[in-house]
Amino acid sequence: MTQPIFMVGARGCGKTTVGNQLAQALGYDFVDTDLFMQQISSMTVAEVVAQEGWHGFRQRESRALQDVTVRSRVIATGGGMVLSESNRRFMSDMGSVIYLHAPAEILAQRLEVSPQNHQRPTLTGRPIAEEMADVLASREALYRGVAHHVIDATQDPLAIVASIMRILR
Ligand code: S3P
Repeated sequence: MTQPIFMVGARGCGKTTVGNQLAQALGYDFVDTDLFMQQISSMTVAEVVAQEGWHGFRQRESRALQDVTVRSRVIATGGGMVLSESNRRFMSDMGSVIYLHAPAEILAQRLEVSPQNHQRPTLTGRPIAEEMADVLASREALYRGVAHHVIDATQDPLAIVASIMRILR
């Protein structure tokens, strides 16, 4: 099996950390769509959103998804990738989609201690705990709907990778 593997889930669920380790375990390469966009545009996510708004960011994000999708690759997607129906269809048609699920309180706790958090543009303008509760309330069905597998992302990254490896076997 060499089809691409897409990691989906909200900010703080561990897509990048787990995706990287999963890629190593499978002998795949690894791409994060946010990092890819930053490299090709030489702008941070916050800069794109400031200059082009969320609409512009979402257009770039959908293009990035198409550009990075190749075989033998693990792809960590931005938390809002699932908002677009065509992105959801593309991912489920092209590969295996894994949703890393964790409750909003855990995501908020992780984001609060993350050094990158202050660089993340707010999605709702609300404090992080409320923001993550709102985000999950509006996206949970989208994450679950697109996912071939839902994984408990409250475990440590090694245990998550082991669970995914068992499922993919
Ligand atoms: C977003 C999540 C971010 C990034 C952007 C929007 C979202 O990615 O794409 O700030 O809408 O949830 P991560 O989930 O990798 O932090």
